[in-house]
Amino acid sequence: MIVRSFPKLNTALASPLISPLVQTGIKTGIKSGINEAKFPTSSALLPEQDGQVDVPINDIEGAGLRDQLVDWGIGLQPKGTLGEGTGVNPFTNVKEEISNLDSEMLRLIDTKPSALKEAAGYFWGLRSGGKKIRPAVLFLISKSLPSTGATVLPTQRRLACITEMIHTASLFHDDVIDKGEIRRGNKTANEMFGNKMAILGGDFLLAKASVSLARLRNLEVTELMSGVIEHLVRGEVMQIKGGGGLDGYLGKNFFKTSSLIANSAMSTAILGDAPAEYVRESYLYGKYLGNAFQLVDDVLDFEGNVEVLGKERYGDLRSGLATGPALFAEETRPEMRELRLRKFRGGGDIQRALDIIYSTDAIERTKDLARVNAEMARDVVEGWGGERDALRELCRIVVDREK
Ligand code: FPP
Ligand code: MG
Repeated sequence: MIVRSFPKLNTALASPLISPLVQTGIKTGIKSGINEAKFPTSSALLPEQDGQVDVPINDIEGAGLRDQLVDWGIGLQPKGTLGEGTGVNPFTNVKEEISNLDSEMLRLIDTKPSALKEAAGYFWGLRSGGKKIRPAVLFLISKSLPSTGATVLPTQRRLACITEMIHTASLFHDDVIDKGEIRRGNKTANEMFGNKMAILGGDFLLAKASVSLARLRNLEVTELMSGVIEHLVRGEVMQIKGGGGLDGYLGKNFFKTSSLIANSAMSTAILGDAPAEYVRESYLYGKYLGNAFQLVDDVLDFEGNVEVLGKERYGDLRSGLATGPALFAEETRPEMRELRLRKFRGGGDIQRALDIIYSTDAIERTKDLARVNAEMARDVVEGWGGERDALRELCRIVVDREK
């Protein structure tokens, strides 16, 4: 019999098929009152019942939307604890790891024909290669786990690459769908190489990310990160279909934005053999930060500086999307509903929607919800050591950012 051996990133970390750590984590979670439905579990860990394996409960459908909304902070007022800034620069603390990321990813996608690598790696060759918030979160969490100390393990570095590759693939596809022309101040991949190469470049990134994920040899992490790809697609389709009001919007935000940050954060804690509470808190930190991030993005579409953002305002309304500001406005101005349902396509609809939004406190309410989520993320890591201050400062930066 031929036994194939695969290169291991870190032999010490080679995980058994079902990590006892995560089993304990889930048991501990349930015991300590974590709502099981809000915390992703791996189907591999669930008992077979009557010949059927339970499906993982890691999305809002199983959770009950109302519970999830409370969890998102609806109805809460921000405590105002994000403050003025602490002077800590979270990106400085992981500068080295981030500066190596692009070249590591380019190595992972080395292939022939070279046109494929050129398209897939296009963003990483550019000077403004993005904010790198996702890898920064992962590196900071990795450096804060009591089990590994101030280091980022090779498996955790690889996970950061995988996360950024999935994110980049989703942007390539999104820009084809949205007919986007400019991203991060540069031409989009579809503008640069055409739709076909942009889609194939995205597919290739996903394929390479999947191979790298499998090579981590960790079932829980594989399941969590594969689930994220499903979530991204579901979120994009929810956005295209619209509907569902504020509930649908927040659900879409989770799938499109928060799931990747939450599940990769949880995965880096699993790879770092972290105690169960750190695994759970990493997930929650990522989820709340992701929620805040998307809400701020949606506010910037109304209030952002055109020069700084490199795009015109009101792009969401123009493409038929009702985000936080329109949806909160609808709560007091029900006439917004009609505009929303026809995707702001009637003559004068956009101006009408803007008049309604600006005559209410809807933008402020969207900002408040972003602040509540950022504060929840900040509170989750309060008891941590390591890069705790940087993680907390990142919450403020996400809320105060201009782009
Ligand atoms: C940006 O949205 C897009 C996303 C966050 C995810 C898009 C997901 C897909 C296209 C599904 C396919 C997924 C994969 C993994 C291939 P936006 O248009 O709201 O923001 P923008 O202003 O940055 O374009
Ligand atoms: Mg887009």
